[in-house]
Formats: sequence, C-alpha cells, structure tokens
Amino acid sequence: MCGIVGYVGKRRVVPVVLGGLKRLEYRGYDSAGIVYHEDGALKKFRSEGKLINLENSMEEAIGAASHIGLGHTRWATHGAPTTANAHPHSDCSGELVVVHNGIIENYHSLRTELVEKGHVFASETDTEVLAHLIEEYLDGDLRAAVTKALSRVEGSYALGVLWTGMPDTLIAARNHSPLVLGVHEEEGGFMASDIPPLLPYTDQVIFLDDRELAVLTAEGATVYSLESGEEVTKETKIIAWNAAMAEKGGYKHFMLKEIYEQPRAIVDTVSGRINPETGSVELPEMNLSDEDLAGIERIFLVACGTSWHAALVAKYWIERWAGIPVEVDIASEFRYRKLLIDERVLTVSISQSGETADTLAGIRLAKELGSKIVTICNVVGSTMTREAHGTVYTHAGPEIGVASTKAFTSQLAALFLFTLYLAEKRGSMEADQRLLLGRELINVAKVIEKELPILQNDIKELIEKFYDSRDFLFVGRGLNFPIALEGALKLKEISYIHAEGYASGELKHGPIALIDKEMPVLGLAPKDSVYQKSISNVEEIKARQGRLILIGSKGDEHLKTITEDVLYLPEIHEELNPILYTIPAQLLSYEIAARRGCDVDQPRNLAKSVTVE
Ligand code: G6P
Repeated sequence: MCGIVGYVGKRRVVPVVLGGLKRLEYRGYDSAGIVYHEDGALKKFRSEGKLINLENSMEEAIGAASHIGLGHTRWATHGAPTTANAHPHSDCSGELVVVHNGIIENYHSLRTELVEKGHVFASETDTEVLAHLIEEYLDGDLRAAVTKALSRVEGSYALGVLWTGMPDTLIAARNHSPLVLGVHEEEGGFMASDIPPLLPYTDQVIFLDDRELAVLTAEGATVYSLESGEEVTKETKIIAWNAAMAEKGGYKHFMLKEIYEQPRAIVDTVSGRINPETGSVELPEMNLSDEDLAGIERIFLVACGTSWHAALVAKYWIERWAGIPVEVDIASEFRYRKLLIDERVLTVSISQSGETADTLAGIRLAKELGSKIVTICNVVGSTMTREAHGTVYTHAGPEIGVASTKAFTSQLAALFLFTLYLAEKRGSMEADQRLLLGRELINVAKVIEKELPILQNDIKELIEKFYDSRDFLFVGRGLNFPIALEGALKLKEISYIHAEGYASGELKHGPIALIDKEMPVLGLAPKDSVYQKSISNVEEIKARQGRLILIGSKGDEHLKTITEDVLYLPEIHEELNPILYTIPAQLLSYEIAARRGCDVDQPRNLAKSVTVE
C-alpha cells in the first residue's frame, strides 16, 4: 500500500524523506515522488517504478538546502502507475501539494463540482481532488481549509499537506489509514505510514486516531479533532525498536533475516508470560475478566492471508485444550455474511500490522454485535490494538519482507499461549500439563535455532531439481494442514510458481488428478497421531509417480523408501509441530524464489499492509 513520509526540522529534507521511503518499500508500490519547499516555491519530483528511478531523476536536488518536505510511494488504485498519477498532487496554483494513502470514495462527484468551478486536473487519481478542494477553501488558514475539505470527503485517508504560504508547517490527517507522527526536540517533526522511517531519528511517536489532524513543525505536533476543531491531548509513546532492527543485518534479503530471527521472536513472545513454577499464564493486556472468560460460548478467529493460516492452527489448539468451539473466518468474507454473534462470543483478530482494512472492519462489526474483541498483533498502538478490548502482542519486531515469516510463527506462539491461558481460566487443563506444554513452546525456539542452518543447506541442494517447476502441491494432515496452506502461499507469493495446499486426506477427492511425473508434491509427515494416515496418502502420490519431497521426523527411515528427497526434523511434542514444520516450507520457498532471481522482499503486485478493502 502507499507509503507517506514527511519531515520538518534542521536536517536537509531530501535524504531524510528518501531514506524514509526506502524503509517503507516493503509496503509495495509502483511509483514514487518527493516535494520540498525552497525559495518560496515547491520543488516536485516524481517517477514510475522503484525509488532508484526517483533518486536518479533528482540527483542535483539531493543536497538541496530545504528543511521541509513530503514523500510518497504509490500503489495504484485509481489510475495507472504513471508519473502523472504519482504523488504529490498539486492544486491549480502549484503552491499547495498533498500526498495521500487511502481511497476517496466520493471523488467523482467532488471532481465534477471542482471542474465546474474551473479547477484543472492533471491526473486520474482520487487524491488530486483533495488538493483542489483544499485550494477551494484556502483563505490564509491552512488548518481550517484542510478541516473544511475533509468534512466533504467520504472514504479513507492518511494525508500530508504542504503549502508555500506556511513554509514551516506540515499538516497531517488520518481516517481509516495508518499515520504516525515522530517528534524529537533536536531532530524536528516527522510523519510516516509506519514506524521504520522514524527510527533513525526518534523513538517518540504519536499515533493519530481516525478523524484527527496534526499541525507539525520543527518544534513538535499539535493534534486537533476534525469533528470539533478542538485541540486533542495525545500521549507520546516510546517505541522500543531500534533502527538496526529494521536493517538487513548482513543477510541477502530481509525475508531470510526474518526467517533466522524466528527463535528470538518466539522466545520474546513467550518470555515472562508463563510462570515457571506454577505454569500459570499471564496475559495482562487481554483485559478480560474471569467472568468474561467463563462466559465465552464460541470463539471467532478473523484474519487475512498468512494470519488466517495461524487462525486455522489455533482452532485445533483451542478446541482441543480449552474445549471452546471455534470458527475461523477470512476477514473479507466475515464482513459480508450473516453473523450469529452476540455477547457470548469472543472475536479474536490476528494481524501482524494491526491495520488490515478487512480485519479491522470485521472486528468493528463483531463489536457492534456485542462481542468482546481481542487482537493478536505485532505493532504496538496500531489501530486494531486500540479498538480491541484486549491485546496479546507478538514480539517479532519489525517485519519488512512482504511475505510474512517471523510474524507468523510468533502468532502461533501467541495463540498457543492464548490457548493455555483459556484452558487455565476455564479449568480444562491441569497445571502440570500447562507447564509441560509451556516448556515445549520454548523448546521449539531452541530446536529451530539449531536446525535452521542445516535445513537451509539441505534445501539449497534439493531445489536444483525443483526450482523451475510450474506447479507445486503442499499436503499435510491435522495441525499440519494449515502449514501446507501456508507453505503454498509462501511459494506462490515470492516465486510466482503456481502452488496449492491441501489436506492430505482430500487429495483423492480431486487434486490427485493432477499428479504425474512432472508434479512436485511437498508432504508433511511427522511422527504424530495421524502419521500412518499421512503415509498412506503420500504412498498414493508415489503410486502415480508424483515427485515427492517429504519432511518428517529424524530416524524415520521409512520415508527414504518412498522418496530420496527427505528433510528431517527432530521429534518434538506434536502440538508444536506446526511451528517447527513452517520453517522448511519458508526456506524452500525462499531458496526457490532467490534461485529464480525474484524480488523476494517485494514481490510483484503485493503489499505488506493492505489498508484498503
Ligand atoms: C498482506 C500481506 C500478508 C499478510 C496479510 C495480512 O496481504 O502481504 O503477508 O498475511 O496482508 O496482514 P496482517 O498485517 O493483517 O497480518
């Protein structure tokens, strides 16, 4: 999705804004632009494609002695990804510019009205109406003009505005699209769609809420309500991430770095939350009373993409250990079906970013129907965490690769903790059992740490036979069925190989028709309670000459009789297998995509954070 960066302060603005846009590249984009104020005028640069094109087009300007400006990476929604449609967009005078993330739903009627009034449009975007609408209302007071303009706008926006008439001030505004402000006494004021651009300069951030506007200067930020026009007192939060945490740290891609960060991310997510003596699970930010917890009759898990796969695993865990019926929904479907939800239902959203538009809309709906809302989320202060009654944070740190890795396994760790917590509160599990499973959860992190380099080497060799495949199937049973789905998603999103995940037992109901000697099939077959069934299913694939890769438990020699391509993992408690078996699926996808020369961290057409429907 689009990314916004704005800066006003002592530093030269172009490097700050360009550096910030680079830190937002993970969000996905297809054109980019920068504007800054110099000698009473606005200098604007825009280009199609990657940021390097923009950088090349503005070589002379990089060192410009300007200290205020805005930048934008655009992910096209209205109008093709051309230079003319790239942000910033200007009003008729060229003295006012806006950058925008979101969708202006009533832009057609606004545009017609503005054209009738004589405004001349230069792009096909919905954003440009904002520039002209503000111009229409501008009478010396920029804040008043933006407030008035936004009162006419339906839809979502994170907005940055710069005007030659106020050369020391940026205006920011937000409604249903993420925008955070950074403040620092020495460095000045910042705005950005996400935290990474702020990290080199400040750890003090202010999260704007919907329908709020901020006036940002080098001295700080003042926030106003767009409804009442009154000043709003905002809390400044301290972000514990440092800039180095968001850099590649010697790895070729962020995705690989993030795969290797998983043991730490899991440990950080679990740390301090299970009492080693009593096995008691502490999730203070859940904010649900014992009475609330005792009253839960059903749980709805709502999420998108990879986070939805985490939800599918959690269904097995919660039903088994806490005895509560669980429904799992893709958020974009959940929103549009008849929901049998009331106060007896707990709705849990799962989201790395906490900003995914469909998931957010889903929890809003469930809340209206009386459900309590808990969110499992990686970003402190994100919209979802603010709207939910309670939160279980994953502590994966910033995830930059568009394809989610460490956020997923941290979600699984958090969901497992959540399961133990529910089981404890509802008396469905003894303390010894909780302690045992809690220890197993930490143990997984240790096992992953040890196995990662070994697996990566084995997989590098293995993929020479498979990297140029056109299709791929992933199969698994029980707890590993969602991991087959996740493996297939990982492969298709970063390597562009067509891949599907299936429950092994479902193969014979259709997909088996695809099996021939060309079709690679990755089978997950740990020594677990469904092992024999999984083996029968992979034998069916072998009988039809499918090209099998099996992942199973160390010491299982039988697997070698089925195929020569076997990856072994240590045997751990079977409940935790989904976390462990995710790792080879991620590495296989990564190595294949890297071998094919794909843009692993920023796959085509994808965005890290999908903040539109
Ligand atoms: C995008 C990302 C996926 C992610 C999904 C949900 O599509 O590319 O990796 O799983 O959004 O994001 P969330 O932040 O809600 O987990």
